[in-house]
Amino acid sequence: MLSNRIWLLFSILLSFVHNGIAGLTSSFIRSEWPSTDIPLDNEAFALPKGYNAPQQVHITQGDYDGKAVIISWVTPDEPGSSQVRYGISEGKYDFTAKGTVKNYTFHNYKSGYIHKCLVDGLEYDTKYYYEIGDHDSARKFWFQTPPRIDPDASYKFGIIGDLGQTYNSLSTLEHYKRSGGQTVLFVGDLSYADRYQYHDVGVRWDTWGRFIEQSAAYQPWIWCAGNHEIEYMPYMGEVTPFKSYLHRYPTPYPASKSSDPLWYAIRRGSAHVIVLSSYSPFVKYTPQWRWLAEELKRVDRKKTPWLIVLMHVPIYNSNEAHFMEGESMRTVFESWFVKYKVDVVFAGHVHAYERSYRISNIHYNVSSGYPYPVPDKSAPVYITVGDGGNQEGLAGRFRDPQPEYSAFREASYGHSTLEIKNRTHALYHWNRNDDGKKVATDAFMLYNQYWGTSKRRRNLRKNRLYSVIVNRPLSERL
Ligand SMILES: [Fe+2]
Repeated sequence: MLSNRIWLLFSILLSFVHNGIAGLTSSFIRSEWPSTDIPLDNEAFALPKGYNAPQQVHITQGDYDGKAVIISWVTPDEPGSSQVRYGISEGKYDFTAKGTVKNYTFHNYKSGYIHKCLVDGLEYDTKYYYEIGDHDSARKFWFQTPPRIDPDASYKFGIIGDLGQTYNSLSTLEHYKRSGGQTVLFVGDLSYADRYQYHDVGVRWDTWGRFIEQSAAYQPWIWCAGNHEIEYMPYMGEVTPFKSYLHRYPTPYPASKSSDPLWYAIRRGSAHVIVLSSYSPFVKYTPQWRWLAEELKRVDRKKTPWLIVLMHVPIYNSNEAHFMEGESMRTVFESWFVKYKVDVVFAGHVHAYERSYRISNIHYNVSSGYPYPVPDKSAPVYITVGDGGNQEGLAGRFRDPQPEYSAFREASYGHSTLEIKNRTHALYHWNRNDDGKKVATDAFMLYNQYWGTSKRRRNLRKNRLYSVIVNRPLSERL
């Protein structure tokens, strides 16, 4: 049960959304740990016991609709087995799946043996136990499959970006683990290993893999690439973009008819999640542009009402850091986001938190004379969650005055959750890592762009959701 206090907060925030009054710049100044990476010998990066024990275990969705996972891990000493043993009872593995193994070099670093195994044909809404590794070094984990594709499936996503591997990163991860989130939507910039040189680049990818295992071995992380994944380092002789990232973090891109692991889509419960690449060609006629045009046509809001887009560079950002960097993608894709009524666009890159009103700038062109974003009920809410806590620190300089399109902004570390309740309502919350004081963080009820408006919503009010709506507080019904 939500307290009256929280409902009051929702009402206030909703009135901001609806009335379009000036946004908030939070004055909250949080204490933070230094933005330095956790030392290599810290327990956050502890090696599992045993010869050649699997490490850096992580899973992601393995198909379009949530009946498969890709399990990935690294063995340090020799290839060993790529087999996953799994089943629905703890310690009883009735099924096996066979994966593949490979390694790569990066300058003078040679990676461990990276295993990838597709486990498919799973039942929905089921807890699976799995075991990987050989003999005494075998390790056990579990994961829960999502509900079947259903417009009213409830589901709680976490959103994390720009995580890195500092003590602030650890705080973000620990807070997220307590949030009840079931799947992470990761908006790019994973390890920040590219802040290192030579052999240490690979070493810091390994530590990051061990760091996130505490969450990523037990629930899918949906990957989106950021600039720190590019690793174009000619001085080291490394000029293949995304080399480390692509070797280590597979995505189910063929399932959504994508030709590239950097952009793809998944459906999970009642959500259709589209992942875009800010650092791959996206202008008209490029593969990403053509793919997105087709993928948006495949979205069926009657089956998956929630349309979510992930990208690394925010399209709307009023921080001095990376200001206007998303403008090129905005000019190409924003009109589609409005046409297809995307519910929310999550991005990272800027090391702070910011949320927009529903606005668009699709009437502007270089000669139209209408250069300002305007309120647009069909537009997504744009949310920047680049506040995971990496070694580059916070982006504390917001542009002044706060632009009209900006609803709430604050430079603190944290993560977000999007708790889908049914086809019409989702509870959104931004979670600052450390509060200490009673200061409101950003929370509101997100109404679905397809089912939450117009005639469809009126019909639902009359019928199935009547009881839900009459139980809402008066302030919500006005
Ligand atoms: Fe970035």
